[in-house]
Amino acid sequence: MTAEIIDGKAFAAKLRERVGEQAHAFTKAAGRKAGLAVVLVGEDPASQVYVRSKHRATVAAGMESYEHRLSADTDATELLVLVERLNKDNAVDGILVQLPLPDGIDEQAVIAAISPDKDVDGFHVTNAGRLAVGQSGFVPCTPLGCMMLLTDRLGDLSGLEAVVIGRSNIVGKPMAQLLLDANATITIAHSRTKDLPAVVGRADIVVAAVGRAEMVKADWLKDGATVIDVGINRLPPAEGEEKGRLVGDVDYAGAKARAGAITPVPGGVGPMTIAVLLRNTLVAAYRNEGLEPPEDL
Ligand code: GUN
Repeated sequence: MTAEIIDGKAFAAKLRERVGEQAHAFTKAAGRKAGLAVVLVGEDPASQVYVRSKHRATVAAGMESYEHRLSADTDATELLVLVERLNKDNAVDGILVQLPLPDGIDEQAVIAAISPDKDVDGFHVTNAGRLAVGQSGFVPCTPLGCMMLLTDRLGDLSGLEAVVIGRSNIVGKPMAQLLLDANATITIAHSRTKDLPAVVGRADIVVAAVGRAEMVKADWLKDGATVIDVGINRLPPAEGEEKGRLVGDVDYAGAKARAGAITPVPGGVGPMTIAVLLRNTLVAAYRNEGLEPPEDL
């Protein structure tokens, strides 16, 4: 079997276009643009790249982007004061504090300070709790993006066996909850799981989110499985290469011959994250204005 390649880049572009149209409708209805505030503390190079892409995508979707860059030696109090100011600012619908924060700043305390109604990352315990009990809130962008790709490919997930590898608060746990809500049978595997190949071998759906290059081997997969690869790992440079290749958590070349469908790295899950962030921000904007968000957002 040769797997269908799930084109996350194209799917994300369509989602961004739809969000852009609906952002325009929001601006007309509310008399202002939806707004996203992004806070970056310090100079982590990867974070700088992410924040720049988020800014560009926000503006391209017809929303306001407010960037706040603080120096690496910012203390926690200063950051909490900024978050409090953004919580009160009616032009700001969504607040995203880019992680990781510099050592010495308690990430959980900062996330806890964000108003749950502006927490478009879905990291606040209130939103994690809402997801756990099936109330509407904000769902973390990456797992929600994975879910969109899965339902687009498979339709109804009822009764399918899903294995999520990785148990982070940002991806693994919310991913498992979304799959459960969709009536899949879920297993969360992690570093202590015994016989991971056998566990993965049961899965109709595999979501790999461990952050270890090409850890999931092709011969673990059930024939025809749908594979969502959340990992983005840079290999050490090979001879003659300046930078190493980017690879996922799955042995892509091998898995292509076995899976029914698979997301590539790059161009699979990655582009979905920002598109869903824009979507969450627009949902926040509608709710903050006391309006019902459009059904198809
Ligand atoms: N760092 C890496 N990914 C993310 C994300 O989705 N949100 C935030 N806030 N920080 C990140």
